[in-house]
Amino acid sequence: MPLDMLERKKVPVAEVASASRLERKAYFPTLIYQFDVEDSHHLNKSLIDLTYAERESGVAVNKSNTAELGSWHSATNLHKKAAYEPLLKEVNTALSGISEELGYAKDHILKVTSMWSIINPPGNGNRAHVHPNSLWSGVYYMQAPENAGQIEFIDPRTIMIMHQPKFETKKKRPRDTWTKVNYKPVPGRMVIFPAWLYHSVDTNMSKEKGRAGDRMIISFNINQVKR
Ligand SMILES: [Fe+2]
Repeated sequence: MPLDMLERKKVPVAEVASASRLERKAYFPTLIYQFDVEDSHHLNKSLIDLTYAERESGVAVNKSNTAELGSWHSATNLHKKAAYEPLLKEVNTALSGISEELGYAKDHILKVTSMWSIINPPGNGNRAHVHPNSLWSGVYYMQAPENAGQIEFIDPRTIMIMHQPKFETKKKRPRDTWTKVNYKPVPGRMVIFPAWLYHSVDTNMSKEKGRAGDRMIISFNINQVKR
């Protein structure tokens, strides 16, 4: 701010001096990407049908989901099935954007190495977990009724959670001071996050009846491979 403007606004000199000397840089940030598929209605309809067909095939895996309460987790090889190529194409578009933005080596690509679907009927959630042996992980929402349960990401810097400063209660905490963050599931939206970042999914509290109440996602792991 030019000095003549400061004088006109009568800002105390000491205050201005301290503000202008204080400089902040954010290092080692935790990056979470979001990517919206355009006109996702048809894609979602096809994925929902495929997912119920997968469930009817009888193959199930028990991971972070609550299978004992009705949650279902598919096998982890969906990326190898032709029917999932339209989704894979969208994921790859997002991944090439991430590679570009982060300056990853051009002779390597981010590639989906496993992919699975989860159906969480009302009453189900996912316990906190990470995705080992991967660089990035992602989730795509094909169906998410109101109150289907948000995904929560937890600050990986344990020290920040162990000893927290007091904040102004009447002000929204600046984003850079958060120790957790929640994303509401939106059909057609993809969220991509570091595979090491702890996350959990709230209980699906939807009041919808039957299949309309199901929270349905496709999740995937990503690694960097040589072209
Ligand atoms: Fe997960």
